[in-house]
Amino acid sequence: RRSYSVSSAFDFAPALFPLSASGAGYTAIGTPGTPAFDTTGGSLEKNKSLTFLNGLSLIVGLIIGSGIFSSPASVNTNAGSPGAALIVWAIAGMLAWTGAASYAELGGAIPLNGGPQVYLSKIYGEWAGFLFTWCAVMVLKPGSAAIIAIIFGEYMVRAFVGADAMETSVWINKIVALGGLILVTALNCVSTNLGRRSTDMFMFLKFIALLGVTVTGIVVAITGLSYSGPASDDWKTIGWFEGTKTDPSNWAVALYAGLWAYDGWDNTNYVTGEFINPQRDLPRTIHTALSLVVLSYLMANVAYFFVLPVATINSSNTVAVAFGRFVYGPVGALVLALVVCGSCFGSLNATTFTSGRLVYAAGKEGYLPEFFGRLGLSKNTAIRLPLRGSRASRFTKFIADDAGFFYTPIWAMLLNASLTAVYVVIGDFSTLTTFYGVAGYTFYFFTVLGLIILRVKEPNLERPYKCWITTPVIFCCVSLFLLSRAVFAQPFQTLIVVAFIIAGVPLYWWRVGSRGKNGRQQSMDWKFWKRWGRN
Ligand code: ARG
Repeated sequence: RRSYSVSSAFDFAPALFPLSASGAGYTAIGTPGTPAFDTTGGSLEKNKSLTFLNGLSLIVGLIIGSGIFSSPASVNTNAGSPGAALIVWAIAGMLAWTGAASYAELGGAIPLNGGPQVYLSKIYGEWAGFLFTWCAVMVLKPGSAAIIAIIFGEYMVRAFVGADAMETSVWINKIVALGGLILVTALNCVSTNLGRRSTDMFMFLKFIALLGVTVTGIVVAITGLSYSGPASDDWKTIGWFEGTKTDPSNWAVALYAGLWAYDGWDNTNYVTGEFINPQRDLPRTIHTALSLVVLSYLMANVAYFFVLPVATINSSNTVAVAFGRFVYGPVGALVLALVVCGSCFGSLNATTFTSGRLVYAAGKEGYLPEFFGRLGLSKNTAIRLPLRGSRASRFTKFIADDAGFFYTPIWAMLLNASLTAVYVVIGDFSTLTTFYGVAGYTFYFFTVLGLIILRVKEPNLERPYKCWITTPVIFCCVSLFLLSRAVFAQPFQTLIVVAFIIAGVPLYWWRVGSRGKNGRQQSMDWKFWKRWGRN
């Protein structure tokens, strides 16, 4: 077990928020020129490599997954009319955005890997950070990855074997899903660069796809040219608000469906410590990403409405494929199915990247056995292929890190992949999504509430980025509304979530309580806090 006796001159409690009255002693972590990597045991935070663009493709690549291609039906049917559906998409986008902006403030103030794990510890005490980690590592991250992997499998099978095979055997889907999972895990184990570059690539693909859908929609609406003839509902006569539902529970369900499509906005926070300049780039990344995503989702939805009859949208859980078939015929359906595959694959890749970092942070913290917080397979000599001198080809350099190959949190990735595989195999889709929604929003809520608490408790904490106070307040109110609906709609599943969170308490005593007097949280250590002008 890791020992936590970092010799420190100062007391733990005041060290919690050592405030820089001056602010001058505050240097951006990871100014270019920090040693590229650490050879002894190592830490990802020292191997800073993420730029603004990497962050952008990471978060956009993660957010745009399955949702925009498959959720429109449930948003639509629950909102009742195209206009109301668009409003739901806009509200969901704004909600995700307020959450993300709040996280940007926290991440700027506390620029460490692990995200909420660190914020919650700082704000409520380490138990809260631990419980988050417990849920995120065991269920939230692998659960959401499993959902994406399953959807990936479905579309893959749909594209290559046909929709019939998809209905007859879920096992084919699951096997394909596992294949995708193994592939992304391998990519991310090989090098940080490889994981990152594939994410970048898929992000471009997704944007092109969404742009393609939008442009096609407009062209078809105007010219009436398509494989199946003109768009069947004349878009000029769509009753945009006909049939809008008024029951709040319908809206809540619609909102949940929309939120799944926007989910993942918190993920850059898990890797903040790896940003070269987190204080500047994290907020920039988040705002750019969310504005791009909200805009492209709204446009894609408008395109669906322009082209497909509302009834078709409502009855299909694969709107994108229906869209492709309508406009370009069978080839279009195939192409769009492949696009959705690619989109899910990219999302799975990005979520694997961040999950690895989360598990890794937990290992470093001593929440998990030590080897999960390791880079490479073995301790001091992380297994990595040397990469020096001119012998390394440009290609090698392209896919390897400065530190060579396999200098990644391999054990952490493996844990995440194994749990994901378990959920893919045994997971029931609707249980997974409910659990994910309830537990996920519980932690989003408490983290954003924590931002408000932190403003009161530590008004002088250096915040390179500060959002309007209305931002977290709106987020807290809406997520509370969503949570309360879930509690009433599915009391039994909510109870399971609560029980699961509470099950983390004894583990907390075991992993953290037994650290002893000198035990302290790694993320609270001097290396971090001295940047606030201490030491
Ligand atoms: N928004 C993504 C989609 O539409 C899902 C993201 C899941 N969340 C996560 N943290 N992996 O498929």
